[in-house]
Amino acid sequence: MARILTGIQSTGTPHLGNLLGAIRPAIDLANDAANDSFLFIADLHSLTQVKNGTELRQNTYAVAAAWLAFGLDTSRTAFYRQSDVPEVTELAWYLNCFFPYQRLTLAHSFKDKAERLEDVNGGLFSYPMLMAADILLYDADFVPVGKDQLQHLEMTRDVAARFNHRMGDTFVVPQEMIRSETMLIPGLDGAKMSKSKANTLNIFDDPSALKKRINKEIITDATPLEDPKDPDNAVVWKLYQSIVGDVQGQHMAEKLSAGGYGWGHAKKELLEAIVDGFAEERDAFNRWMTDLGGLDAELSKGAAQAREVAATVLDRVRTKIGY
Ligand code: ADP
Ligand code: TRP
Repeated sequence: MARILTGIQSTGTPHLGNLLGAIRPAIDLANDAANDSFLFIADLHSLTQVKNGTELRQNTYAVAAAWLAFGLDTSRTAFYRQSDVPEVTELAWYLNCFFPYQRLTLAHSFKDKAERLEDVNGGLFSYPMLMAADILLYDADFVPVGKDQLQHLEMTRDVAARFNHRMGDTFVVPQEMIRSETMLIPGLDGAKMSKSKANTLNIFDDPSALKKRINKEIITDATPLEDPKDPDNAVVWKLYQSIVGDVQGQHMAEKLSAGGYGWGHAKKELLEAIVDGFAEERDAFNRWMTDLGGLDAELSKGAAQAREVAATVLDRVRTKIGY
């Protein structure tokens, strides 16, 4: 049985792009009985950017509620908050001491953040070693990540190999599983949906807020109602298709191509697809968000499972170092 582990950034309520592009596929993988799965919310990493406790906590809750609402089965997956397993910070220190400073200076994501952000702190610089600790602390075999995390995974493999070489076999050297980006969800303006742009759709919103957002924000052109429209250039159709799938999506494409079917009609169908298609998930999300104690209980259960493994691995490391 392969151990699969991945971390999720805790940056607030996931949008449609996150849900369809990352969360749904990850849940399928986690719920697969062939895997032993660990999934955590990286709220220690968030501290590199967020310095407000309420915001840190709220973001974690929103992310946890979304994963649970989309069907993450916590009887199969250890689902926890990174900060609930303090062992990880100890391991991160050890790894920092086994990894050359010079190699850390080559991290693309640090260089990128150092250029963009105001708060360029030491945590950002050693971020890759905390991430390596996240992974090595649990003897993970496979780590599903997006392409942008590839260099971090290489550093993880590198530091594990360096430690093993110097101190004797200690860590499992993990393999990355690069998530294919087959599902790229456009934002309301047609560019890639991203929280860094104001173009996201929050499917957990109530129907009236969704309606307003869809009607006001999704871009369309001035083609008159009676004229044919090209679905391939229509954001509203792309969003619709990503939700209902190819077969049902084809119906709207045909209506658009035929003419006599306006953008308003298409937006109405999209709204219905979201309101009805995600009704269960929306209810579940809202139930969790009004039951933060319940969320804490879920995450604590996961943390207890995680800490058990963490304690064993950390013990191995301390012994190897000589403490
Ligand atoms: P954002 O772009 O909103 O900042 P993140 O970079 O935090 O989102 O992405 C988290 C995960 O969601 C990543 O694995 C990414 O591949 C996926 N994702 C983000 N936006 C989209 C999108 N528009 N379409 C498909 N997947 C997406
Ligand atoms: N750095 C990852 C990201 O930005 C999140 C993350 C933290 C992670 N620790 C991890 C991913 C460990 C995989 C394994 O998306």
